[in-house]
Amino acid sequence: MTAAPAPDRNRDLAGKVALITGGGSGLGLAMTWRFAARGARVVVADHDPAAEAALSGIEGASFIACDVCVPEQVDATFERAEAEIGPLDIVVANAGVSQNGPTLELSFAEWRRVMDVNLGGVFLTAQAAGRRMVPRGQGVILLMASMYGVVAAPERVGYCVSKSGVAMMAKTLALEWAHHGLRVNALAPGYVRTPFLDDLIARGRLDADALTARMPIGRFIEPEEVADLAAFLASDEASAITGQIAGVDGGWSANGYL
Ligand SMILES: NC(=O)c1ccc[n+]([C@@H]2O[C@H](COP(=O)([O-])OP(=O)(O)OC[C@H]3O[C@@H](n4cnc5c(N)ncnc54)[C@H](O)[C@@H]3O)[C@@H](O)[C@H]2O)c1
Repeated sequence: MTAAPAPDRNRDLAGKVALITGGGSGLGLAMTWRFAARGARVVVADHDPAAEAALSGIEGASFIACDVCVPEQVDATFERAEAEIGPLDIVVANAGVSQNGPTLELSFAEWRRVMDVNLGGVFLTAQAAGRRMVPRGQGVILLMASMYGVVAAPERVGYCVSKSGVAMMAKTLALEWAHHGLRVNALAPGYVRTPFLDDLIARGRLDADALTARMPIGRFIEPEEVADLAAFLASDEASAITGQIAGVDGGWSANGYL
């Protein structure tokens, strides 16, 4: 028996059109670089106008200002992306915010903000993707959960609850849309070195040395290591993978010791 030819991983997203929310920084920016390098045209939807400048130098990347919590903006973004670039093959609902502090001091306004972005924004993005992909009978949706949607940590009730909701959203939508030809998976990264993490370290909310000491791999994860998994899940090589919570956590969630 002869082996099937190996896929060209350098160009495995050639011809695909992708939309990535929160693509102007951290993980979203790394995914934009990786997807574009593998041949995709990428539309970044981010509410921070500075995100546009971050995309300079990425061939095939374009920017649309969008707050993922506002249904009209999400719809308008998808309309414009498809009109300007073409039907979306891949949508990554990545935009998210942190919440870190004692629950006894957490205001309801802050709770709502986290739910609005991390759950509401991901829902609106996934729904807008599904509305376009289901009639076409194909598409890949990735939702950004977190290892803290799978295992818990104190003083992050809003974050952990929102991310476990995202993980369940991926399973639910995967089941609902599998027979329409769509795949839906969640990513569950551990501590990744991005502005999101740097900010928590700078504010003294996280101790970088203590965290890396507990990490089985002994270091923080790099954004590109998450982007590589995202690119694989978005590619046709992952054609039988749906409804999964894909961890990239350096072994953290497996560690029941120390
Ligand atoms: N960094 C980590 O260690 C880590 C670990 C697990 C999961 N995550 C998740 O990965 C995602 C990206 O995190 P990151 O570390 O790259 O953070 P980041 O702060 O570097 O980037 C987040 C991006 O999302 C955008 N954004 C935020 N709210 C938005 C909104 N309402 N509408 C549109 N865009 C919005 C920001 O402008 C920014 O460009 C988040 O969902 C986060 O929860 C991060």
